[in-house]
Amino acid sequence: MKIAIGCDHGAFEYKETIRKMLEAEGYEVTDCGCYGPDSVDYPDIAVETAQKVAAKTVDAGILMCGTGIGISIAANKVHGIRCALCTDTTMARLTREHNDANMLAMGARIIGIELAKDIVHTFLATSFSNDNRHVKRIEKLMAEEN
Ligand code: RB5
Repeated sequence: MKIAIGCDHGAFEYKETIRKMLEAEGYEVTDCGCYGPDSVDYPDIAVETAQKVAAKTVDAGILMCGTGIGISIAANKVHGIRCALCTDTTMARLTREHNDANMLAMGARIIGIELAKDIVHTFLATSFSNDNRHVKRIEKLMAEEN
């Protein structure tokens, strides 16, 4: 499975931990930065990462910033992206089952790294339900982009 990841300076070390975990587990990870603690603008990283997901050159995307808020808002501006900011594993499971989220966002100032690892595992392990109710709602969501 191919995963694109990205972060701003508020989550650099956090992203490094998630990247190393995913690589050790056999995922093919595309790291869209940032690559150090220097300040960057989260919209730049979010859009670069999200474009890889939207183009389907990867299977999913994971974004991290201080809160997870800015970077998720930015990713959701990219056509075809449903980026879910999650603070627990239930949200991660339900956003895959109900929203077919194709990107996960987390906040390094909000949740600890061990919970973040569990959230990533839950997000990647859960499939969309394919339930007609949810399919219809996602179609309505995506129609707003067109
Ligand atoms: C960066 O200082 C901070 O604003 C960013 O990481 C994030 O929390 C924005 O939503």
